[in-house]
Amino acid sequence: MEFNALTPELLVAFEAIVGPAHVLTAQRAAAAATADAYADYGRDHTEDFHFAPDVVLRPGSAEEIGAIMRLCHEHRLPVTPRGAGTGLSGGALPIHHGVVLSTERLNKILDIDERNLQATVEPGVVNEVFQNAVKEVGLFYPPDPASKGSCSLGGNLAHSSGGPKAVKYGTTKDYVLNLQVVLPTGDIIWTAANTLKNSTGYNLTQLMVGSEGTLGIITKVVFRLLPFPKHNILMLVPFRTEEEAADAVSAVFRAGIIPSGMEFMEREAIAWSSDYLKIPLTLPEDIKAHLLIELDGQDLDELYKEAEQVYGVLEKYDVGEILLADTAGQKDDLWKIRRNIGNSVRYNSVYKEEDTVVPRAELPTLLKGVKEIGARYGFKSVCYGHAGDGNLHVNIIRGELSDEMWNVGLRQPITEIFELCVKLGGTISGEHGIGLVQKGYIGIALKEVNLDLMRGIKRVFDPHGILNPGKIF
Ligand code: LAC
Ligand code: ZN
Repeated sequence: MEFNALTPELLVAFEAIVGPAHVLTAQRAAAAATADAYADYGRDHTEDFHFAPDVVLRPGSAEEIGAIMRLCHEHRLPVTPRGAGTGLSGGALPIHHGVVLSTERLNKILDIDERNLQATVEPGVVNEVFQNAVKEVGLFYPPDPASKGSCSLGGNLAHSSGGPKAVKYGTTKDYVLNLQVVLPTGDIIWTAANTLKNSTGYNLTQLMVGSEGTLGIITKVVFRLLPFPKHNILMLVPFRTEEEAADAVSAVFRAGIIPSGMEFMEREAIAWSSDYLKIPLTLPEDIKAHLLIELDGQDLDELYKEAEQVYGVLEKYDVGEILLADTAGQKDDLWKIRRNIGNSVRYNSVYKEEDTVVPRAELPTLLKGVKEIGARYGFKSVCYGHAGDGNLHVNIIRGELSDEMWNVGLRQPITEIFELCVKLGGTISGEHGIGLVQKGYIGIALKEVNLDLMRGIKRVFDPHGILNPGKIF
């Protein structure tokens, strides 16, 4: 695709649309001593990448976004939409420079409809802010990515993000009823209706979910909600081998229990995170992995019965002393440790995130394969993730690896890891998306015919290819 450069005339036109205060450039940021904040628009949480935008726009409405897109479409200017910038596949990186379009000002919860158990929100609302607002009225929005305290709902939709609760409640895609979207040409549409069922034409809603900002810019969302589960039980289960921990995961489900969290953490993952947070945790020498298991529901007696069943399953494994969290504070600490593994790894070293996913019972084979490939190619990985979903985050640590190994040499072992996923019936991303860093591997998971269908869809939405170019394929 051929793109044009930003011109002074376009800058003036953008100012007329969003107001001068919401048109940022490197020059203006330097003059206002906000160069660091400006530089942040060129990075997300993916490795140590940075690409400088030519201009950052912060529109305040769908209509403003429509006007921006019409101009960019006409002038062939690349636009990279941006939520909170917590993505792990480089989806928000402006690799072709041009416009970064931030949804940060679209941050209102417009309506919580208690009659219909629905809510209408703007994409810049932070996930946890939304969760807390609906909880105030006894409602529950389950998708809870590790970065829930800072990630935006728009970004969650762009990647169909998951999180620990996905194992029982599903991912972001399972809560979306209807989306208002600005198309790359500037048209504004609603994708569906505010109904729980809908058999009216192609499912444009689900096409948008997970499209990583390549098909349109989401400006309003109607979510469905659930009643908030009143009770939960949380246990931390130490294992003497990683394989046994991974194996116990599917055994719990086979016993007829669907936990609301079933997280795997290898020893280093939990150790690095508790150190990083300075939350003390006893880790006996012989403990190699943990499962963090949560049960939730409306009836505490029922939950205790389920917990008994879980204990029954775990008895068959070589486990250490199970920690049953007995205060809200202790539960918070355990979840904090789990949620901060990614941050603690980043604090220790630059890393490559591989978001592997396989059918749940194949997890032990995947884990063994990842470690075997790492040993063969000489890299270290920290593994953890949503074991109940068969979703293992493999963090390849930069450590002392050479530039050559980091930039080129790792391609072969990463290919082997992904080939193993596919062989086991899985795929190359469960919840982080393809974005920039996994696009070179997408052919491992998808045939050329699939990719051609996707390219065709992209052309229909975005004939000039200006929206988030260079992502997915
Ligand atoms: C997590 C993020 C990395 O599960 O998805 O911690
Ligand atoms: Zn995750």
